[in-house]
Amino acid sequence: MAFNFNVSRAAVNKAVNSLREEGHLIESVTKKGYRLLSESDVLSVEGILPYLRDDYRGNIYVFDTVESTNKTAKEIAMEGNEDGSVIVANGQTKGRGRQNRSFYSPKDTGVYMSYILRPQDDANIYNVVTVAACIAVCRAIYKLTGIECGIKWVNDIFLNGKKICGILTEGSFDLENGRINLVIIGIGINVSTKDFPEDLEAVAGSISNSNDVFVSRNRLVAEVLNELQSLITPESLKEKKFIQEYREMSIVVGRDVEILVGENRKKAHVIDIDDNGGLVVRCEDGKVESLNYGEISLRWNS
Ligand code: BTN
Repeated sequence: MAFNFNVSRAAVNKAVNSLREEGHLIESVTKKGYRLLSESDVLSVEGILPYLRDDYRGNIYVFDTVESTNKTAKEIAMEGNEDGSVIVANGQTKGRGRQNRSFYSPKDTGVYMSYILRPQDDANIYNVVTVAACIAVCRAIYKLTGIECGIKWVNDIFLNGKKICGILTEGSFDLENGRINLVIIGIGINVSTKDFPEDLEAVAGSISNSNDVFVSRNRLVAEVLNELQSLITPESLKEKKFIQEYREMSIVVGRDVEILVGENRKKAHVIDIDDNGGLVVRCEDGKVESLNYGEISLRWNS
């Protein structure tokens, strides 16, 4: 290496040591040189770019630690258009989930990313963005591992009965014309997280925890972005062809659930997912209704 780059051996040594400090796994073999190990997986722009489609539009920002990538995404979007840009972090100190909950975001084992979307079309088509994001994540995981995940309406991805991914989509309106001017799609994936806090242990899992597969976080970010960008074009959001895929991956259709809307709880049976991603349920009084927001919990004895 010293010969090829026309630098001293000490300079190569120094560069290798600083890469190791950044977390890259580099093996050294006496009289042979250095080798970057395949399981080395430090998130970086350089690591993501080779897997991105050539027509990918948008900037890639990678941080070691931020409070919340959704928060950073909003700040970056205030500075410019940034449509198609993504903020990726190795860890979050205040990862946020739906309903004001927190999202456990330890360093080095997960992917925390927020995609900036600048709607150009009718606001109505953006109500299925979270559904599209779920499909993007499931397709990316399948492509990398051959593992089929399940989706718990509306934004949770499950594997072997445990949640491995949550999605938080946030938007802001332009008060002058009443249109959505910014959508932030926040995606948190537990890739190899093992040690969850006690309150999450029974319900949270990760891709490689139970399957013993290595997943490159850089490649996973790129594949999610590739899928996401083709799923959220105005044409695709209007056609909503992906709803059928979402239906097929649903782990709630045919199950008894408890629905939570605001402070109200009620029991229901899930019949279907409608063409807008809404949850079609039969309530205990026999009434059939379609939910477009709210939370559900599964009653596992059903
Ligand atoms: C949920 O499970 O309720 C949604 C969790 C969403 C977590 C992701 S991680 C990246 C982005 N930044 C955040 O603060 N939250 C989302």
